Amino acid sequence: MDAHFITGTGTDIGKTWLACALLRHWRDAGMRPAAFKPVLSGFDPQRPEASDAGALLAALGRAASVGELDAIAPWRFAAPLSPDMAAAREGRTIDFAELVAYTRRCLPPRGNPRHAERASAVCADNSGPILVEGVGGVMAPLDESHTVRDWIAASGLHCVLMAGSYLGSLSHTLTALEALARVGAGVTAVVVNETPDSTVALDATLEALSRHAVGIPLVSIARDTPQPGVVRLAALLCPEIV
Ligand SMILES: Nc1ncnc2c1ncn2[C@@H]1O[C@H](COP(=O)(O)OP(=O)(O)OP(=O)(O)O)[C@@H](O)[C@H]1O
Ligand SMILES: [Mg+2]
Repeated sequence: MDAHFITGTGTDIGKTWLACALLRHWRDAGMRPAAFKPVLSGFDPQRPEASDAGALLAALGRAASVGELDAIAPWRFAAPLSPDMAAAREGRTIDFAELVAYTRRCLPPRGNPRHAERASAVCADNSGPILVEGVGGVMAPLDESHTVRDWIAASGLHCVLMAGSYLGSLSHTLTALEALARVGAGVTAVVVNETPDSTVALDATLEALSRHAVGIPLVSIARDTPQPGVVRLAALLCPEIV
């Protein structure tokens, strides 16, 4: 079963929303998907259910217990800052090699012969697609020398790039694609999540992107009717189940 990295052009673009929608779709189809949010900033231990990891666990039908959080989101930081800054506030750093090793342990058996050592109990009954949500955008710093794109490339995962339809998104999206291409990270699809109250139409964004992001599948998510986009993306990520 396939694993995919969910990244975006920036923070708050809809990565967690999308991951949750995909997880629910696959669960409705009878699959048992898994999801990880390895690096989480802005985490409040008093309200774990309000975090990205809490949302992913809810979409998986699991409680946001400490055990589950430790399994899917081991690098948790309190400050709502980029991961390097949030870690520094706590006198910590993110060990990039450890993060990549952890991510690889999350992957399905095909890419991970040491299946028994997979990262978490969440994986124990996994028989569906696996999603790894990044943090911030593709160039969000993880430490002094690595950004999210390096994490994607080193993990060997292909990614879904989430973008918006706001004015300026075309440049952000094409810049993100260039940054990913530079480290050889594969992009399975660009998802354009409709930005509420944008002066730019969703269709116009898709049309413009299609001329510049040649060969990459584009999926649109309309705010009032998101499901067709979710289903189309699910089919791209996991053709076995539609
Ligand atoms: N298509 C959508 N329909 C409804 N709400 C959405 C949609 N996309 C995003 N949102 C909402 O917008 C907010 C930001 O989305 P989300 O948390 O998924 O972003 P993110 O990219 O995961 O952010 P972060 O960088 O913090 O991980 C959330 O409240 C989410 O529920
Ligand atoms: Mg998120």
